Order: sequence, then C-alpha cells, then structure tokens
Amino acid sequence: MITADELRKKFLDFFSAEGHTIIPSASLVPNETDPTVLFTTAGMHPLAPYLTGEKHPKGKRLVNVQKCLRTGDIEDVGDSSHNTFFEMLGNWSLGDYFKNDSIKWSWEFLTDKKWLEISPEKIKVTVFEGDNNASRDDESIKIWRECFKKSGISLEVYDKEKGNNKTARIFPLPKKDNWWGPAGETGPCGPDTEIFIDLGKPVNSEKCSNGDECQPGCKCGRYVEIWNNVFMEFNKQRTVNSEQEYEYVKLKQKNVDTGMGLERMLAVLNGLDNVYETELFAPIVEEIEKLSEKKYGESKDTKKSMRIIADHIKAAVFIISDGVVPSNVGRGYVLRRLIRRAVRHGKILGIEKNFTKQIAEAVIGIYKETYPEVEGNKEKIFGELEKEENKFRKTLGRGLKIIKNYELRIKNNGENVSGKEIFDLYQSYGFPIEMSLEELEKRGVKFSEDELRKGFDTELKKHQELSRTASAGKFKGGLADGGEKVKKLHTATHLLLAALRKVLGDHIFQKGSNITAERLRFDFSHPEKLTNEQKQEVEELVNEAIKKELPVSFEEVKLNEAKKMGAMGVFEAKYGDKVKVYTIGDSAQGGSPFSREICGGPHVKNTGELGKFKIVKEQSSGAGVRRIKAVLIQ
Ligand code: SER
Repeated sequence: MITADELRKKFLDFFSAEGHTIIPSASLVPNETDPTVLFTTAGMHPLAPYLTGEKHPKGKRLVNVQKCLRTGDIEDVGDSSHNTFFEMLGNWSLGDYFKNDSIKWSWEFLTDKKWLEISPEKIKVTVFEGDNNASRDDESIKIWRECFKKSGISLEVYDKEKGNNKTARIFPLPKKDNWWGPAGETGPCGPDTEIFIDLGKPVNSEKCSNGDECQPGCKCGRYVEIWNNVFMEFNKQRTVNSEQEYEYVKLKQKNVDTGMGLERMLAVLNGLDNVYETELFAPIVEEIEKLSEKKYGESKDTKKSMRIIADHIKAAVFIISDGVVPSNVGRGYVLRRLIRRAVRHGKILGIEKNFTKQIAEAVIGIYKETYPEVEGNKEKIFGELEKEENKFRKTLGRGLKIIKNYELRIKNNGENVSGKEIFDLYQSYGFPIEMSLEELEKRGVKFSEDELRKGFDTELKKHQELSRTASAGKFKGGLADGGEKVKKLHTATHLLLAALRKVLGDHIFQKGSNITAERLRFDFSHPEKLTNEQKQEVEELVNEAIKKELPVSFEEVKLNEAKKMGAMGVFEAKYGDKVKVYTIGDSAQGGSPFSREICGGPHVKNTGELGKFKIVKEQSSGAGVRRIKAVLIQ
C-alpha cells in the first residue's frame, strides 16, 4: 500500500536526485495574457514560454506536481480513469537532456526496487509511427529495447500486417495517439512515448475492441496509461499570412515534458482497477453514500452517479479556490455545468436537500495539507456552491412547471410532447432525459420512449455540432440561460472583427473573446496601440452596419466549403464535418458581405437590434495582441 503523499514525495525525490529543481504547482487559471486555454490542462502549460527558449529562473531541469483540469473528456467521467481535476507529476528538460535520459529514468523509477517496483512484465509502451511532419521514433524504440533487455525481456514491435498485438510490447501509433500538444491551438508540441500498465484483462469487457487480445489505447480499461514522455521539439504555428493553415517548425531547443497521472498511478500501485477506490476519492464517495443512503456498489447507475458527483465537486472546489465563480461564460460556465451536473446526479440518487457543501468538506479534508489554498478559501467555496445549488434548484422548479404544462396540453388537446421539447428542457433547465421521462410517467402521460429518445438525440447532435468552439476544451455559450444581451454583444463582436480588418488590415485575427451581459472583450493580433482616429473609424463602421439593419443568417456547410466562402475562423478537424457559417449583410448583389465567420452562434437576426456600439477601452494583452472592451447602449 502506498499513499498519495508517499507517491508525490518519491517522484520529487527521484528527480531532484537527478538534478531537477522542485517548483510549485501553478494556478488552474492560466495567466490572463494567455488566451490559448481556459484552464491549465497539463503541467507543460504554465511552462510553455520556457519550452520555446525563455530562461527559467530555476534552471533547465524541473520537477513538479501540477493541478490540472480537463473538460474535454467530461462524458467519460464516471469510467474507471477519467477525471476532470487531477494531479500531474512531471519532470522537465528545458533544452537539456532528451530521449535517452528521459526514458531510462522513467524505466528506473517504475521498475527499480528502490522506487515503485512495478514488474517489467506488466509494462507496454507506444511510440510515434511517423508522418509528413516527423519520422517514426526509432530512437525511442532503441532506448526502450535496452531498458527491457536489462530485465531479460526482448522487445517485440507491433506490426499491423503481422497482427502480433498479443506478444508485442511496443506499439507505433499515429499522430492522434502519439503526439502531444500544443495545449491550445498553437505552441510547443512533439512526438511522445506513452507508458501503459497491462492489468491482464478488460475492466469493462463490453467496451473491449478485441476480446482478450486488445492493445494499448483500447477503451476497455485493460491498459492504463500512466506516464507520457513528450519530446517537445516542434512549435505548431500559423503559416505566415494565413490564419487558416498550420506548420510545424523545429524549436530552438529540444525539450522533455513528462506527465504521470497521480490518481491512476496510485490506483495501479494499490492493485485497484479504478481511481474512485483510492484515498483521493474514497472519503468523498463515503460521504455521498451517507447522504443518499445508497451503497456505491449497489448498481451500475449508482456507481456512475456517485463517481460523477465526486469528480465534479472536487473539480469545483479547486476551481473556486483558484478564484473563479459560476457564471454564464468561459470558466464560470464550466464551473456552473460541473456543479449542476453533480446536483442532477444527486437528484438521481434521491438526495433532495442541498448537499454539495458536505461533499466539498470531504474534498477539503483530503487535500488541505497538500493544497492549503482549499482550506484557506473554505468559506468562499461553501458559499459559491450553496448559491449555485439554490439557483439550480429553482431552475429545476421552473422546468417542472413546463412539464406540467405539457401534461395539460396533452390531456386537453392530445398533442403529445416531442423529442425537441424534451431536449429544450435539458438545454434550458438542465433536465436529463431520464428525469423528464420519469416526470411524464409519474403524471400518467403516455409516450413512446424510443421516439422521444431519438428526437432528443437528433437535437443533441445538432447542438453539439454547432457548439463546438475553436479552443480545445471550452464549453461554448451559456447563452441558453436567456442571455439576450450576451447574444447581442456576440453579434457585435463579429461586426467588430470585420471592422478592425477593414480599418487596420488583413493581419487582424481573433485571439480571444469573452462576453458578459455587460460588455464584450475581444483580443486580436495587432502590433501597436490603436490611434484615436482608428478607434473612431472602427466604431463608426460598426454603427453604420447596425444602422443599415443588416440581416444575420447562417448556413451549415462542409469545412472546406466554409473555407472557400472566405469565412473567418479556425479550420481544424475538431470542428467535425459540417460547420455553421454566420453571414452579416447581403452578398446576393455581388461583393462580399460585411462579415462572415465560422461560429456556433447564437446571434440576433438583424443588426438593427443592437443599439449603439461603443469602445470603452483599448489596451495591450500580451506581445502582439491588443484587447478591446466595448458595450452596446440601447
Ligand atoms: N503534456 C503531456 C500530457 O499532458 C505530458 O506531460 O500528457
């Protein structure tokens, strides 16, 4: 049995003995001037400037335990290993050692008697298979071969043709698996080698791709990825003169960025097949058991709901502790969704009264020694959770009233409820489909579950497609909660970008955007302060577009068509096949419209609704980036 604290300490001790300086965890909230990510998603993120050549005050070898938050996998939360908040153990070479030391130290730390003593038999690894940007990582294969050889294991490389996945120990995989970074759209990145522990059999056989013969990467949980060594020697950047193409250029220095997930490693070392039974979750789960008077293991659904609550409230505690409060945009919206999803699952478990504070107490109990800030911000954390929980319960009440109306409508004129209406309840009031169906059933309404589920899924898909944002892991919107003002400012943001390009030139691209009900904030690429005349000209252009009452329309097109149409936006595969292109102004009479952007919406229907546009501030927001704050006066 090894505790979380012992594991953190071992990691730090091992690497400090190899000349690494221990640095503290950075905040979950990245530096304000960095618009590439919403939260710190990996240990490398706060270190990005040093990977590109800036000198770190603590030297070229660093080691740390970093608080991380990822929202991309939110639907996976509740499985055995995906968490929203997690800790990452990482060691770093900033232009110092490279593949050889990195892999050999990992091997020693994992397998040596003095350290974690994992049987080499259980270890399997993956490497980058090569593509147009970089060749196959044969160097890493060679180093791994030497490591395994020391333990008397000869290394067999996986070969698709041979299909030798049962006996192979090293698997070359494509970029989507074995290339890490950048954390945002651009930045340092490189091929990686990932280390897996083979548990010997699937944790969830239903998800196994190939019976007992699957390989690292399979969703069944048999292979737990515990460590990722990234060889960061590239920078992904926009091609000069085009915001829409990317290129990979070699960095000035070769870096190593490794990340080991503390929770997973702890589970593996203690012989557990999931993180929720480790000391970093067990006390939270116990608290949920008490509150719900249900047992964690009593059914699959109970287990899942308890895991979601534990994960989400833990994440919420750390987010609030780092200074974020629930809201309808950006980080605040992520936080809001986490809390609300937890409360919903509390309801599923039958917890009717407020409970998030008690869960937060359990979380703080686990972490107060390691992260004193959670104890220090205790009252604030409790207060924000309580407020949000109350708000959400009220919204739930309003949703129930709507269901009551459906019931009356059905009884009075026989018009049945549709999948779209069930989706609207989910979207606007946070009602999961199960809850809506349960409520209808309770009221004696007859419906076809299949049909409603189908209709719901269709709407959900549409919505997901449309709400995918340019930046990884961002939740779009928060506009569903009635943000009319936000919607107007969103349309004004499109007008602003178009006007800036007309006044300042084609080098202007969006670098960040944040909208509250009061104002818009827009970051864009431009090297110098705007003159008063330029600001005035931009304002005038926007206000003229408003006066002209230009129509705002959208169409859904394939990504490459959007490109051909000259739409602004980020053209990356993650958008999915089809995207929504918003056009402001008419291009029917020839010429180009006032603005055309790839965007999930929503927007007003006509610019005439916007009122008067006014820039209230123009300032720097990092090197080569300017920031405008503007308002609409009605
Ligand atoms: N940046 C890599 C990861 O997050 C390794 O630390 O997996």
